[in-house]
Amino acid sequence: MLELKKLYFTVQGNDAENGAPRNIIDGIDFNFEKGKFYVITGPNGSGKTTLAKLIMGINPVSGGSIFFENKDISNLSITERAKSGIAYSFQQPARFKGITFRDLLSIATGVDDEKKFLEMVGRVGICPLSFLDKEVDATLSGGEIKKIELATTIAANPKLAIYDEPDTGIDLWTIGPMVSLLKKELTKKTTTIVVSHNKAFLDVADVIIIVDKGRIIYTGDLKKSLPLLTDLSICAYHHKCEGDQDAGCLR
Ligand SMILES: Nc1ncnc2c1ncn2[C@@H]1O[C@H](COP(=O)(O)OP(=O)(O)O)[C@@H](O)[C@H]1O
Ligand SMILES: [Mg+2]
Repeated sequence: MLELKKLYFTVQGNDAENGAPRNIIDGIDFNFEKGKFYVITGPNGSGKTTLAKLIMGINPVSGGSIFFENKDISNLSITERAKSGIAYSFQQPARFKGITFRDLLSIATGVDDEKKFLEMVGRVGICPLSFLDKEVDATLSGGEIKKIELATTIAANPKLAIYDEPDTGIDLWTIGPMVSLLKKELTKKTTTIVVSHNKAFLDVADVIIIVDKGRIIYTGDLKKSLPLLTDLSICAYHHKCEGDQDAGCLR
């Protein structure tokens, strides 16, 4: 349903690189199949967010192409991609003064109906109903805004949902429900891509994709990925660091 063909994102290198172009995404080829749950993982700075943003159209492609449901979307705007059924949850969601969670839901779904909103928030389950009238501004905690962003993405009922590190800043007791929610929301209609290092997501992935230095270095199941994850010191499966940043945890 989503095909990446020789995809590149190239930037001007910094002074240390003598300004030589640098491929942040370096020729990625991959086909995502309908209805599967993909987890993209890899070291910090390996290009995961950049890849997710290329798919949503937040970053322009420098080379190659992206096909969604057999249509070339490489040059479509974010809005056009959203209209064709792709939704995106930012690693660091934007905050908007004067806009409430209710407004975001209304924009994402085109619905303006109290009963429907209560239903949506209830179905998503990770945000209390009292969030509906919260302003999505600087007063929200990092975890609250992530929950609101995630709920808004799910409510849009996309064909393809992309979540960049949805667990960042989220309380531990919400992660379990969040994982089952994203798996559960995976109806026949939705394909899910989660960027995460979290064991809870890796454990339920249909396919794990490991990105390193802008390339896909592994696709497959969790079991065979474990030696690589350990080599790359990806936190959740790195036996030495156990989440301790002083011990070299990458998260
Ligand atoms: N627009 C850009 N210009 C220059 N460098 C960028 C740009 N976007 C991303 N990068 C760099 O590309 C690398 C990969 O970034 P990112 O995709 O955010 O990594 P990840 O999400 O895997 O941690 C980083 O070194 C980042 O600084
Ligand atoms: Mg990132």
